[in-house]
Amino acid sequence: MVISEDAIELRRMVADARRSRKLVGCVPTMGALHDGHISLVERARAECDFVIVTLFVNPTQFGPKEDLQKYPRPFEADCDKCRAAGVDFLFCPTADSMYPAGYSTFVEVQGLTDQWEGAVRPGHFRGVTTVVAKLLNLTQPDKAFFGQKDFQQQAVIRRMCRDLDMPTEIITCPTLRDSDGLAMSSRNVYLSPAERTSGLSLSRALLLARDKVRSGETDLRAIRLALRAEMEQTPGVSVDYATIADPDSLMELTEIAPRMVALVAARVGATRLIDNMLIP
Ligand code: PAJ
Repeated sequence: MVISEDAIELRRMVADARRSRKLVGCVPTMGALHDGHISLVERARAECDFVIVTLFVNPTQFGPKEDLQKYPRPFEADCDKCRAAGVDFLFCPTADSMYPAGYSTFVEVQGLTDQWEGAVRPGHFRGVTTVVAKLLNLTQPDKAFFGQKDFQQQAVIRRMCRDLDMPTEIITCPTLRDSDGLAMSSRNVYLSPAERTSGLSLSRALLLARDKVRSGETDLRAIRLALRAEMEQTPGVSVDYATIADPDSLMELTEIAPRMVALVAARVGATRLIDNMLIP
């Protein structure tokens, strides 16, 4: 595995791979890798011949009061995990090389970013789409792999690629969970044992909503209230949003639809957790 911060080396190796007719896959990450990230790498490994992981804690997607400084950066462990998962190229650029002095171009997806995470974290998606556009330009992959865990993020990135005629196919991979149901996240390390227990209310609420739909409940407003109540009843949990939306437009639904996604976000102590579940 090549580990490099050098974009020229990256481009050269991608060009070599393409000349050998290899299918190129890219998994963008901010590091602090867990099994959820590795499941994306495994999918890329299964579908592509040359697998790139990008590791970059992107400053432009963090708000001024967010955790950019304290975001975990276990670099050696990340390298080991990538090596073990069969990554070909681990690209870890510096912030100065990604955003040199005079940097002034941003990519913004309108509409889809107004609600939910976009409303709670102003400017967040502008940072995400900008860095993902740059990473896809640098790596030029046939396929790029994202997690369903960040449901709005994958929807926004899909829209960006479609609107900007970017040739990369976006693949969304299922959310990996710990055995107790908590969606894996690099931020889970911030949780105390008690907070972790409270954090389980997110996945519990999603299952409750899904089961209500399955058992024939048709009052979507009641289901949405139950979704919220399950989290609000839990000590230490402060709900940012709890909704049932259309999976493409992310607009809140008022009536049962063939495809729905339940989206939740809450703060548990100082840590923000998000989760979602498709309701077919
Ligand atoms: P990061 O939070 O490191 O996540 C990298 C990728 O892993 C994202 O596509 C995310 O959805 C996926 N992921 C995280 N937890 C997962 C889980 N439990 N199961 C499956 N996939 C999971 O998301 C980002 O970084 C950044 O915003 C990025 C896209 C890299 C742009 O900076």
